[in-house]
Amino acid sequence: MKVIKKIDEMRSAVSGIKSRGMSIGFVPTMGYLHEGHLSLVRESLRKADVTVVSIFVNPAQFGPREDFKEYPRDLNRDSEVLEREGLDYLFVPESDEMYPQGHKTYVEVCDLQDKLCGRSRPGHFRGVCSAVLKLFNIINPDISFFGQKDAQQTIILKRMVKELNLEVIIEVLPIIREEDGLALSSRNKYLTQEERKAALVLSKSLKEAQSMVEKGQRDSAAIIKEMKEIIGREPLAKIDYVEIVDTDKLNPVAEIEKKALVAMAVFIGKVRLIDNTILLF
Ligand code: PAJ
Repeated sequence: MKVIKKIDEMRSAVSGIKSRGMSIGFVPTMGYLHEGHLSLVRESLRKADVTVVSIFVNPAQFGPREDFKEYPRDLNRDSEVLEREGLDYLFVPESDEMYPQGHKTYVEVCDLQDKLCGRSRPGHFRGVCSAVLKLFNIINPDISFFGQKDAQQTIILKRMVKELNLEVIIEVLPIIREEDGLALSSRNKYLTQEERKAALVLSKSLKEAQSMVEKGQRDSAAIIKEMKEIIGREPLAKIDYVEIVDTDKLNPVAEIEKKALVAMAVFIGKVRLIDNTILLF
């Protein structure tokens, strides 16, 4: 595995790979890797000739009161894990090179960026899109892998790719969970033992939503009410949002008539966790 820190060096590796006619699979991450990240890496290793993983804790996607400074980092462990997976290239750009002083260019996917998580994290998706577009421009991947865990992120990035005529294919892979249902997240590290147990209300309420739909319930309000009751019974949990939306515009749907996304953000103590599922019937 080759570890690259400089943008120019990454670019010349990319031109070498392309000149040999090989395809590039790309997995952008913020590090502190878990099995969710690794599921993306493994799929890329299967599908592309050469796989690049980036680790960059992107300051532009954190709000002023968010956890940029505390965000967990462990580059040594991440490198070891990726080496063991048989990764080809690990790209770890530096903040000064990604955003030199005076950086003024950002990318926004209007409207979609203001829904769901965008309401409580203004500027978050602008930061995500700007970093991911820069990484796409540096790495020039044929295919890039993202997790359904960040459902809104995947919908926004697909829209950006389409509307900016990028050639990369975005592939979305399922949420990897702990055995008890908790979706893997680098932020789970912040949870105390008690909070870790309380955090199960997210997946529990999603399971209930799916089961209500399977039994014929089509009224979003009734499903959301039940989900909020389940979460409300947990004293450590505080709801940011629970919504059922369409998967294109992310607008609330009243009646579930086709594929719908039920998405939520819930604070467990001070830790904001997200989870979602596509309601199937
Ligand atoms: P990060 O949170 O590190 O996640 C990197 C990728 O791993 C994302 O596509 C995310 O959806 C996926 N992922 C996280 N948890 C997962 C899980 N439990 N199951 C499956 N996939 C999971 O998302 C970001 O970083 C950043 O916003 C980034 C795209 C790198 C831009 O900075």
